[in-house]
Amino acid sequence: MLLVLVGLPGSGKTTVGRQLARRLHLPFVDSDHAIEHRLGCSVREYFEREGEDRFRDLESEVLADLCQNHQGVLSTGGGSVLRPINRERLHQHGHVFYLRSSPEEVFRRLRNDQNRPLLQVADPQARLRELMEKRDPLYRETAHYVIETGRPNVASLVNMIVAQL
Ligand code: S3P
Repeated sequence: MLLVLVGLPGSGKTTVGRQLARRLHLPFVDSDHAIEHRLGCSVREYFEREGEDRFRDLESEVLADLCQNHQGVLSTGGGSVLRPINRERLHQHGHVFYLRSSPEEVFRRLRNDQNRPLLQVADPQARLRELMEKRDPLYRETAHYVIETGRPNVASLVNMIVAQL
C-alpha cells in the first residue's frame, strides 16, 4: 500500500506523514529527503544553483522510483504536482491525500523558515496566494481525498486519513 500526501509547502505533509506511518506501522519517506540523499546537498542549495527545471527533472525521477518501489507513506514536495506525469503516477500508484491549507495558515507556519526557496521573495504572502490559485486544481486532480487542515491538530488529521482507508 502506498499512501501519498500532497499540498502546499507548510501544509504539514511531513509531520502528518510521519505520524500516519507510525500509527499504521509503515515505512515513511519524504521525497525532498530522498532527493537530498541522492544529491548530497539541500534542496534549497540545488534549486538555487541549478534552477527550478533541473530540480523538477530530478524530482520526477525520484517520484517515479518511489511510486514503483516504496510501500508505506510518501510525503511529496509542494511542487510535485506541476508535471502531468507526476500527477498521473501518484494518482495511479497511491491513495493520495491532499492536505489543504489556506495561504494564510501556511504563511503563519513558514514565516521564519529559511529553507523554502519559493518563498524567498519580497512578498511571500502574495506568492503563497498565487501558488494556491495555480496549484489547488492540480492537487485536487492528483488526490483521491481532500483533508482540510484548518483547525484540527496533527492527531485528528491522522485519524481523518485513517478513516478513509
Ligand atoms: C517546493 C516545495 C518544497 C521543495 C522545493 C519546491 C514547491 O517542498 O520540494 O523547495 O515548489 O512548492 P515542501 O512542500 O516540503 O516545502
